[in-house]
Amino acid sequence: MSPVVLSEIIGKVGLIRINRPEAMNALNNDVVDGIGAAIDAFEADEAIGCIVITGNEKAFAAGADIGFMKDFDYLHAYKTDFITRNWERIKTARKPVIAAVAGFALGGGCEMAMMCDMIYAADTAKFGQPEIKLGTLPGAGGTQRLPRAVGKAKAMDLCLTARMMDAVEAEKSGLVARVIPADQLLDETLKAAQTIAGFSLPVVMMIKESVNRAFESSLNEGLLFERRVFHAAFAVADQKEGMAAFVEKRKPAFKNR
Ligand code: HXC
Repeated sequence: MSPVVLSEIIGKVGLIRINRPEAMNALNNDVVDGIGAAIDAFEADEAIGCIVITGNEKAFAAGADIGFMKDFDYLHAYKTDFITRNWERIKTARKPVIAAVAGFALGGGCEMAMMCDMIYAADTAKFGQPEIKLGTLPGAGGTQRLPRAVGKAKAMDLCLTARMMDAVEAEKSGLVARVIPADQLLDETLKAAQTIAGFSLPVVMMIKESVNRAFESSLNEGLLFERRVFHAAFAVADQKEGMAAFVEKRKPAFKNR
């Protein structure tokens, strides 16, 4: 059996592919554990500056594996912390994580994409939280991250009607950063990821942390956090290099310190 998660290093980017094509990349513990392990490895590798998670042309992931979970009882789901036990590993990554989504990102698949720092969508992408059709509800952030991304009205509409949102609507509503022709999705995403990875990693991490703070704090607290980090960035050697390079009209050579 082929591994359900594939990972490779391309330049300065760690690429993770969900690999259950026979089941529309449905998520089970092995997939989530595999993604967690790949993130652990990429986080530990100083040469990597950005991580990309993708699926295949038909599906990023069509949700949690329905056949696998259908007969669970409460105690089993609770005791095993079904699927979400490793879930937040994507969120806790300190390096940026980009979801490159083609085809279906439904249920847990949409929730996984939303846990990434941003989503680049192929023009074939379809997002949705169709759990209501199965007699259940989103269980890994769909009712919480989706309203923060697209607002209450659209989140309610998607969660309560189970309809899918295409890439154009997803971009218009703020869920998606870019829409890219499907045949260029991975190349374009990797290009952006290499650009990010070419900057100073500590500064990249500071920016990620600061933007994420916006969702966890009041505006004043967030601004204070940003100012403290901005001041702290003067202690980063790459700041000296970046500004000196600008003044000297040359390309900066960042050293991640
Ligand atoms: C298990 C799945 C699956 C899933 C698709 N498959 N989605 N298996 N779990 N979530 C399997 C199908 O059973 C089928 O297997 C194969 O993938 C191809 O799917 P088809 O349905 O034949 O393809 P298509 O007609 O193109 O429809 C694609 C689809 C549909 C629209 C994505 O498969 C679908 O609606 N899937 C379920 C989506 C969903 O409800 N997701 C939410 C899950 S709950 P066979 O063997 O028949 O070929 C959830 C809760 C998360 O995510 C909570 C915490 C994480």
